[in-house]
Amino acid sequence: MVTFTVRGTLLSTPTPDRLQVREDHVVTIDDHGVIATVEPASVSVVADVTLPEGTYLLPGLIDLHVHAPQWPQLGTGLDVPLDEWLFQYTFPLEARYRDRAFAERIWASLVPGLLARGTTTAVYYSSIHEPATLALAEACVRFGQRAFVGRVAMDHPEGTPEFYRDADAITGVEASARSLEAINGLGSPLVRGIITPRFIPACTDALLEGLGELATATGALVQSHCSENDWEHQYVLDRFGVSDSVALARFGLARDHSVLAHGCLLSDDDMTVLARVGAGVAHCPLSNVYFGNAVFPVRRAMARGLRVGLGTDIAGGAEAGLLPVCAHAVNMSRVLEDGVDQRLSPAGRGVSSSAIDVTTAFWLATGGGADVLGIPAGRLEVGERFDAISVATRPADRPGIGVSVWDLDDWPRVFEKIVRLATPADITGVWVDGVPAAGISVAG
Ligand code: GUN
Ligand code: FE
Repeated sequence: MVTFTVRGTLLSTPTPDRLQVREDHVVTIDDHGVIATVEPASVSVVADVTLPEGTYLLPGLIDLHVHAPQWPQLGTGLDVPLDEWLFQYTFPLEARYRDRAFAERIWASLVPGLLARGTTTAVYYSSIHEPATLALAEACVRFGQRAFVGRVAMDHPEGTPEFYRDADAITGVEASARSLEAINGLGSPLVRGIITPRFIPACTDALLEGLGELATATGALVQSHCSENDWEHQYVLDRFGVSDSVALARFGLARDHSVLAHGCLLSDDDMTVLARVGAGVAHCPLSNVYFGNAVFPVRRAMARGLRVGLGTDIAGGAEAGLLPVCAHAVNMSRVLEDGVDQRLSPAGRGVSSSAIDVTTAFWLATGGGADVLGIPAGRLEVGERFDAISVATRPADRPGIGVSVWDLDDWPRVFEKIVRLATPADITGVWVDGVPAAGISVAG
């Protein structure tokens, strides 16, 4: 049974290097939120929602890496390296989420804040606290955001502060198991629990082992950080004699649809290991500037068959919206390709074949992210869930603010402008699973 139709022009990226434009089409969505048809509109058809002239329908954005408790410090504290940043700013803030009421205040700002920026799916790290974590999952259900929500597991006496850690490995594994069950027990088709060992330096062997067993027993997805920077990468080499990728695979944590953040220092062999198990990388171009000590080589990773999507890494990256992160991904790939040290000759300054364009970046933010997670979203195609956004542009000769489109602009340029320039004010509609997200006005 068809319950809902949207009429407008669709802009999407079915593959990493193709922009598809479907002018004046009608999308029909069935009563399960699944796209039933996408067809050219006949002149007379009246849809439930008709997008105004200059407003376009795009697939919803999939943010693979968000630290929910870090929302209040977004935009601050990025003056020190990762290890200092964690102990000085981040762990003290995350410890406050022992207070569920405090957590609820933050979640009630964060979840609609990301929806308003077009993030229809978010993959969240919560804190170590079960009540705050369940409250985050409940907020996603309430506001209508697709989400994976993970209680953070961390018990290592050296990699964590005394005031913010699991008492021991068994306690940590049990809390993660209970949290997973409670989130999945909400019975929402939108929200799932995800097993979340913070990163190897924060976890004992016993905790990593126990969480790997939990993943095998439950089939739940796993997320962690992986080869993020020199300090973290070397720590793992010193402790295990192998890279993060190999260690996480041995513990059963790098597995099909695991979401591994950063990957700045992945070797070709690491990429092969991760591709073989089906894990993916959450590329966080902005936080990699602050913490990464390298630019994640998106093109090289994709060429080796590795799944890749995009993440904001709130608050390690000082940007909440995934469209701006697309622009950062393009920018950083250009820096990698061209190099930065002007004392070197141009030919020897960068890494050739590294650059990506706006089309590839947007694909990473949609279809790429969906492939990392193994979810039927990120594409405006029959059989996929209807997770979508509408973005308004305006004629450039009309004074005002917004994404200005001139009569000079062809479709690739209109699309580029939307990705590079659209702000939350230009995102006029957000649907998840065929339903307008709560509190977000829908154009039409
Ligand atoms: N590694 C361990 N914890 C974190 C975190 O909160 N942010 C980032 N960027 N890296 C981490
Ligand atoms: Fe992170």
